Amino acid sequence: MCGIVGYLGNRDAVPVLLSGLRRLEYRGYDSAGMAVIRGNGDLNVHKCKGRVADLEKHIEGKDTAATIGIAHTRWATHGEPNDCNAHPHLSQSGRIALVHNGIIENYRILKEALTEQGYTFRSTTDSEVFVNLIEYIQEANNCSLLEAVQQATKQVVGAYAIAVVDRDNPDQLIAVRQSSPLVIGIGEGEYFISSDAASVIEYTNDFVYLNDGEIALISRNVPVRVTTAENESCRVDISTLQLSISELEKGGYEHFMLKEIFEQPHTLQDCIRGRIDKQTYATVLSGVRDNKEHFLNARRIIIVACGTSWHAALIGKHFIESLCRIPVEVDYASEFRYRKPVIQSDDIVIAVSQSGETADTLAAVNLARKSGAFVYGVCNVVGSSIARATDSGTYIHVGPEIGVASTKAFTGQVTVLLLLAMAISHEKGIAQEDRCKAIAKEMLTLPQKLESTLERVTTEVQSLAKIFTYAHNFIYMGRGVNYPTALEGALKLKEISYIHAEGYPAAEMKHGPIALVDAEMPCVVIATPDATYDKTVSNMEEIKARGGKIVAVVAEEDTIASEIADYVIRVPAVSEYLMPIVVSIPLQLLAYHIAVNKGRDVDKPRNLAKSVTVE
Ligand code: M6R
Repeated sequence: MCGIVGYLGNRDAVPVLLSGLRRLEYRGYDSAGMAVIRGNGDLNVHKCKGRVADLEKHIEGKDTAATIGIAHTRWATHGEPNDCNAHPHLSQSGRIALVHNGIIENYRILKEALTEQGYTFRSTTDSEVFVNLIEYIQEANNCSLLEAVQQATKQVVGAYAIAVVDRDNPDQLIAVRQSSPLVIGIGEGEYFISSDAASVIEYTNDFVYLNDGEIALISRNVPVRVTTAENESCRVDISTLQLSISELEKGGYEHFMLKEIFEQPHTLQDCIRGRIDKQTYATVLSGVRDNKEHFLNARRIIIVACGTSWHAALIGKHFIESLCRIPVEVDYASEFRYRKPVIQSDDIVIAVSQSGETADTLAAVNLARKSGAFVYGVCNVVGSSIARATDSGTYIHVGPEIGVASTKAFTGQVTVLLLLAMAISHEKGIAQEDRCKAIAKEMLTLPQKLESTLERVTTEVQSLAKIFTYAHNFIYMGRGVNYPTALEGALKLKEISYIHAEGYPAAEMKHGPIALVDAEMPCVVIATPDATYDKTVSNMEEIKARGGKIVAVVAEEDTIASEIADYVIRVPAVSEYLMPIVVSIPLQLLAYHIAVNKGRDVDKPRNLAKSVTVE
């Protein structure tokens, strides 16, 4: 939520800030702005409601030449999206500018105190309070900007990342991280700051990942200094990030989401690479092998996640319970963190998160660690907060996911959770070895099957999307591993098309939701071969008898379910364990094409942001 970018060096700062903002727009896109310190000493702020493209228009024709600046793309928390609430915010004197990602929980008390000191506020944001607090401390104590920021962070409560510039010091940038991501890119005589390293990858591959509570002093031609609020020096480790710019572009597709759907045969391959022995079909994950004792002694596994990642976690529960015989609980991270969960030292807590930055999941990780559990991460973004806060983990390696609606990350998470279950089973040496090997062998053929699924279903799904574009409600149904797959299908549709959609375990229909069924209600039923296939077929009959319109996702050779359904989508007949991955392809495409038909902004749906770094 909200993206921050900053620059200090010898280039013109504005193109760097704009390109960074464009790449950070997935984090929020209701307003954008920048502050630059010009060669003549002026601190100019340009900001407006709308997208980064609106900001570009806004500065067109203005003289913005500068070699230092900070910029921001917003996802509103405090105060509606408008020009005034857009960042950067200036301190009362107009000397200090600040951009902020996160929430200042005690901003009301601070605002009252500052108001008593004569401060007035132009915006309704919590961020303006922060910048005035810094100015107040600096003036009251006649101290440096760094000291003022250090003092301010001791008074501010919340999760935030900020970047600050001072008109009177055009050679200095200060950046703070407290539970919201912030990295510093190191170039030749230049520095970048960003909420996401990928946004400045065209300028540098070398990054310093700030830890919580760290304050970076970035000065022209001087190595970065990192301190705590108490002015204790912190280690500055530089990591190299391998990422190509092409991974961040649409590559000829109309939307990132479509590109990401079509990337899945390759991302799956990257996800599996080196993890299955092609001779023995044994699955080995270094995170499991190196922590074998924890996995062998685990009495229980708790998986915490949000949104799509939570759906993947529900599927993971099936995998681990059936292949490892370890009981698994799945919790929304936001519920787990506040419900005083019982966590024991022989529990393993697995956090699943694409971004690795989701505030609730990160808080759940911290709680689990404090309680003495071994914490394992399943993340996509390398070096992300959750990846660093966990004891060990496995990356899904699907490359940057930019569309707000998660697609390739979901199939990557399901794949890694299956690999994880097989790797644990391998280490435990339990009786599931042959079954795991059969799944692993088939998994190696999956990229090719996804390729052919994409080829085959795209046109069919496009036609179906035309039929259902104007439906007002959808029900998605499945059983076993395909119940969470149905939940995920419904989430995809609602978040990008704004059509109301619900996912249900098929057998639950008759306990209430069937009351919704009529000729206007499309029901997407996942009826692929498994132990409950016949039962699902009966559930389809019940819907049919009430006039519901059924879209069935079935296996290639299916004859029974496909006869009952009004519309049929066929997918390869893979093992039950791999089915959620295969079935997800048509469900993602259905949501995508309906949203496009409705003229929705598929990659940036209303009210959403990709990385939810606030509660
Ligand atoms: O980055 P994370 O996986 O932790 O994100 C969790 C959710 O915010 C995310 O999956 C969200 O539900 C997506 N918009 C779903 O498409």
